[in-house]
Amino acid sequence: MQFFPWKDQYSLNISEIDEQHRMLVGMIDRLHTAMAEGKGKSVLDEIINELYNYTKFHFITEERLMDEYDYPGFAEHKREHKELIGKVLAMMERHKKSTLGLSSDLSIMLQEWLNSHILETDKKYSEFLADRGIRL
Ligand SMILES: [Fe+2]
Repeated sequence: MQFFPWKDQYSLNISEIDEQHRMLVGMIDRLHTAMAEGKGKSVLDEIINELYNYTKFHFITEERLMDEYDYPGFAEHKREHKELIGKVLAMMERHKKSTLGLSSDLSIMLQEWLNSHILETDKKYSEFLADRGIRL
């Protein structure tokens, strides 16, 4: 069972970004599943690491895009990215110190990420680009 399945509403109609978001949703789902199944620390560490690295790579792609097209909400969006990276980092730190599985607030954070960041914050820049007839 997938906890975080891909939903069509996540699509921004920007193929490169949609592809990256699919990867992210997949990783988030894998992490959640591994946690729910009580997988060991090394498995969780590996997925969190992967998620952290991929998130950084993905945010750079988005920021390059927003910068290139002079998106007015760029600074604010970037701030949100920084916050999310900070949360993933904090999660990594917490996980390193703990011998237990990740706390349940992680799933709330991941939900929020998908539902608030992709569905609201990311949607805004994709609409900005679409309004200007920019097709990517
Ligand atoms: Fe974003």
